[in-house]
This record gives sequence, C-alpha cells and structure tokens, in this order.
Amino acid sequence: MEPEELAGAITRLVQWAERHAPRPESPLRRRLGEHFGVDPVELPVVSRSLEAWDRPNVQVALDVWLADKQFEVVGVSVMEGYRAGLGELVRGGEWAAEVQLGGAEHVTVPLAGQESITCVESGLWLVGEGDEALVVMLKSSAGFGPGEQLALEVMARRRGRAEAVLAELRRLMSEHNVYRGRVLELRSRHFHDDEGAPLTVRSLPDVKREQIVLADGVLEAIERQAFGVARHAVRLRESGRHLRRGLLLHGPPGVGKTLTAMYLATQMPERTVVLLTGQGLGTIGESVDLATALQPAMVILEDVDLVALARSFEPTNAILFELLNAMDGLHEDHDVLFVLTTNRADLLEPALAARPGRVDQAVELPLPDASARRRLLALYGRGLDLALDDGDRLVGELEGTSPAFIRELLRRAALLAAEENDDGPLRVTDHHLHAALAELRRSGAELTQTLLGAQPARSLDLEHPDLEHPDEWEPE
Ligand SMILES: Nc1ncnc2c1ncn2[C@@H]1O[C@H](COP(=O)(O)OP(=O)(O)O)[C@@H](O)[C@H]1O
Ligand SMILES: [Mg+2]
Repeated sequence: MEPEELAGAITRLVQWAERHAPRPESPLRRRLGEHFGVDPVELPVVSRSLEAWDRPNVQVALDVWLADKQFEVVGVSVMEGYRAGLGELVRGGEWAAEVQLGGAEHVTVPLAGQESITCVESGLWLVGEGDEALVVMLKSSAGFGPGEQLALEVMARRRGRAEAVLAELRRLMSEHNVYRGRVLELRSRHFHDDEGAPLTVRSLPDVKREQIVLADGVLEAIERQAFGVARHAVRLRESGRHLRRGLLLHGPPGVGKTLTAMYLATQMPERTVVLLTGQGLGTIGESVDLATALQPAMVILEDVDLVALARSFEPTNAILFELLNAMDGLHEDHDVLFVLTTNRADLLEPALAARPGRVDQAVELPLPDASARRRLLALYGRGLDLALDDGDRLVGELEGTSPAFIRELLRRAALLAAEENDDGPLRVTDHHLHAALAELRRSGAELTQTLLGAQPARSLDLEHPDLEHPDEWEPE
C-alpha cells in the first residue's frame, strides 16, 4: 500500500469514528427527559421576548403562579454573553454536553429608595410532573445591564398548554407589575449604550398645596383638568369620553411649573409617572407605551421647547411631533395625563395649533401680582422673625420677580441676619432684605437673575441646546 492510500484510509476511519462513537449526553437533555418522561427534543417551546427591565415582573409573576405548585429552580451555565434557548439547549451538539446544571444565579434590582427585589438572573423552573410537566425558562442574551435582552420560554407536552402558560405568566406580570404607581424614567439607548440601567425608578419631592402660591383660580383650573377626569374616569369612559388628556403649563422661569407638576404627581400617588427629560430623548414612543401599560399614568415632559426643538435622529422629525404622534396613537380609553412645561409657549404654539386636541388645556403661570408676592414673602419667611417697617414698599420693589427669586431673596437675607448676631431667632429686617436684593441685582449676578426669573429670560441658544448638561445652558 502506498503511503498516500494509507493516509486516505486513516482520514476515513477518523470520520467514521466521529459519526459512530457514542455521544456524550447533554445533562440538560437528560434532566428534562426525566422531568417529562419523554425525550424533550420532541417537545414544543413557545417564546416571548421581554424588555430588559421586566426581570422583577417575571419574578413576581412566577412567585404568584408557583405558589400552589411543585417546582425546582435550576441554573444553566453557558458561555458568557450568550444564552441559548430551551430548544437549542436540548438539541445542541457537542457544546450542549458541556452545559452544567446548578443553582440559579440571582441579581438584585433596585426599586425606589431602599427597596429592591431579588430575582433569578436566568434559569429554568421545572414544574409539575407527568402529563402536566412544564419547563419555564428565563433567558438572558447578555450580562445584566444595558443592552440586555430577556425572553421567557415555556416547554410543555402540548403546544396549546405551553401557550396558555405563557399567556398566564404575561397576565400576571401585568397584574403585579412592580413599576405600577411609581415614578419612572427611561434612558435613551443611543446615548447611554454602556452606562446605567435603561429604566430607573425615581422619587419625587412631596409637594403640598400650601407650598404653591399662584394667582386666584390658576391652581384650581389645573386641578380640575388633572384630577377631575381622573375622579370621574369610569363614568366618562362609559359615556364615550376620552381620558387621554394634555395639560401645558407655561410661563417665565421660576414661577412654579415644575413645582406644580410635582404637586400633581404627589396628589395622585396611585398613578404611574413617566418622566421625560433630555436623558430620555429618543424614548418618547417607549415612554408612552410604558405609561399606557401601567395606566392610570401621567407623562411629565419638562421644558418641552428645548426638547422639541432638538432634532431627533431623523432630521425632519422633531421630538415634539414624535410626542404628538405618540399621543395620537393612544386609544381614547387610555387614562394617560400628559403634563408639558415650557418657558416658551410662543415657540410651541404653531406645532400645537396644527394638531388640535392633543393639548386640551394651556395654563399660564404668570409672574406673581402684589398679593401673591405678599403671600410668597410670608411663605418663605416662615420660621424667620420678619420685622418689616414697610412691607408694601418691598412688595412694590419686587414687581416683575418670580417666586423662585423671592425664595432666594429670603434665603440670602436670612444669611445676612445670621452673620450679624450669633444666637436667638433670625430677625430679618428691611435692611437685610434690601442688602440681599442689591446683592441679587448686582451685575455679575445676571445669570442668577435670569434663572430665578427676575427679568424675562433672554433667548437661549435653542438651535444647539446642550441636552447632556441642562444646568449649563447660558443666555447669549
Ligand atoms: N408659584 C410658586 N409658589 C411657591 N414657590 C414657588 C413658586 N414658583 C416657584 N417657587 C419656588 O421656586 C422653585 C423653582 O420653581 P420651579 O417650579 O422649578 O419653576 P419653573 O419650573 O416654573 O421654572 C420651586 O421649587 C419653589 O421653591
Ligand atoms: Mg421647570
């Protein structure tokens, strides 16, 4: 025999050996085979992809669903960054033999404040036995963090049963959704590919009615629009009225637009709040979907002019139009309240006028009149010994200033008073207030004045707003 012939024979022998040698059995296939009593390769799998932030919802849904069932949780080790689904795992070739079964890994997902929820990171739940046996899998495409994709899979003896279980789990996820009634903020994936969670649970300050000073009737009008519809939601819905509604709060800086939005959120604690800020640019559709899924809800879009004028990724599609489209897409039964705030209603008007019915009510928060300024001095003078010889004169001098300015004025006056003497209650006199006023008005404090609304905001560079650093916006 020639050496070449021998080499050929050896190659064919190796190939034959590869085909006929006993295969190492996949531990998962064996385990599921025992569970179902049949080879799992034959069994149907149904799958549904989830949002990355849905892991806690899967956990609570499974906790409820499994409460009266026999089950076991199993973790699966697979190569980092790649998690195969149930079908692949049981059918898999050589690599499937390497898969180790073990304890499931857990991950702690923070909710608001100190609250958090411990969830299975990814794993299998082996449920029931015999004909009723099921396997549920939470599959994660990559490590925990942004860019992660989740899917829920169910394997059963019959496809219909797998589908019914998946639907039931989806229903329980929605019913027990851990984000309902909370304050949520989405981050744009485009800007934050490698940092932070895509969804954050936030907490907002509790704002009481007494903390807001507005001209007579203004807060009442806002409340009627915001709470009235909520209070009568059932009857309005039954009579075919739409529940989706939009409220635009406009006025100069520092007059309480943000404060009022926070107050509305405080007053409706059961309502899910979705915050849309510069960070969330590009998540308008998702944010509105989230609000809809967790209704009754409130979407707060602050300083909508700045956001609206920044072009989104498609150059012709301004963010505001995206928002209006998302609002259009809502069914009229959906109880979602949109609260928009802006310093520049004039810039928004054309767009809003072109799409009537999205924003049902625009409420102006004006600079405070004399009576409101007096009430603001009392509000922010609380806890101080305010000894004014001529309160009316001060009220007159403060004409054209905003509530935020008046608050800052009292803070500075209190500081000046504190520097004068070391003990006793802070006695704040006209002298301190005028000194503080002069300080605030001094040139160089111009930016402060603009931000506090002591004079009308001059035009900001709206063509190129710095959306990453809103604190650094400066007047020209
Ligand atoms: N109408 C108001 N009544 C009481 N305090 C106010 C009012 N408006 C503003 N302030 C004070 O000024 C701060 C900043 O106001 P903010 O609501 O952020 O103004 P805007 O959003 O209109 O620019 C508030 O947190 C509050 O302390
Ligand atoms: Mg504001």
